[in-house]
Order: sequence, then structure tokens, then C-alpha cells
Amino acid sequence: MKETLEVKKAPYVIEWRDGFKIGVAQVDQEHRHLFTLVRALNLASVDQTVEELLDYVVTHFSNEQELMEKSGYPAFEQHLKLHEEFAAQVADFLGSGIEWSEERVQELRRFLNKWLIGHIMTHDLRFGKWQASHSAVESPVVQAAPAARGFFARLFGAR
Ligand SMILES: [Fe+2]
Repeated sequence: MKETLEVKKAPYVIEWRDGFKIGVAQVDQEHRHLFTLVRALNLASVDQTVEELLDYVVTHFSNEQELMEKSGYPAFEQHLKLHEEFAAQVADFLGSGIEWSEERVQELRRFLNKWLIGHIMTHDLRFGKWQASHSAVESPVVQAAPAARGFFARLFGAR
């Protein structure tokens, strides 16, 4: 019997590692969970896993932004813009109308992992360092209302 020549590439997976920590416990915990959700993206349940991930991104961004705002982080506005740019990129990707395939799921996972690592290790880390040198007390734990008020909700409309 003739085998197909299609070579399945190994899934693109980047695991969370302690080197991604920025030193703000809540943010680190949420970033870790984001990596888990990115890893869980799969073609068989793509709609559900993408929605779960986006909901959590909204919650995480809201929490992170609240922490920054409450602590008086000077680069808060610029950081907000980075989150919004990310949202726009994801909206473009998802709004292209291209059907899901294994490759497309991999593409999304690759984009999300790369963006997350670049963002965490540059911009979130800057916040972590700033907070470490500006707050003597433990940072408060903030809890955003789930989705609804995030920019994804605005971009994609009420779901
Ligand atoms: Fe961030």
C-alpha cells in the first residue's frame, strides 16, 4: 500500500519556564496559565480552545493593567497600547475567514508563544523590575470581571 508523503511536523510547543518570571506573583501565575492554554490549542476543538484562551487573555490583560495603573507605573499607557496592538493582530488573524487546519492552529500557537515570550521578557519584565524598586509592600491581587469589558470583547462584539 502506498503511503502518503505528507510529513506531519511535530507540534510547536514552548513550555513555561521559571526564566519567564517577572517577579510579580500574580502576573507570573497568569502567564504560566496562558502557556498552558496556548499548548492546549488543537484542531479538534479549535473554537472552544481559542475562545477559552481569548477569554483568559482579556482577564489577564485587565488584571495586569490594573496592577500597573494602581501602582502608578509610568509606562502604563504605552503598555496598554502593546496589549491593544496584540488584540488587533489576533483579530486580523481570526477575522481572515481562512478555515482552520492543523497548520493554521500551529501558526496561531507559534505566533502566540513568540509574542508572549517577547512581550513578557521585555515589557512585562520592565514592569516587574520597576515594581520591585518602587513598592515596599506586597502587590495587591487584582481580579478583573471575566471578559466583557476587555478589548477583545469590544473587537469581537458580545459573545
Ligand atoms: Fe503585558
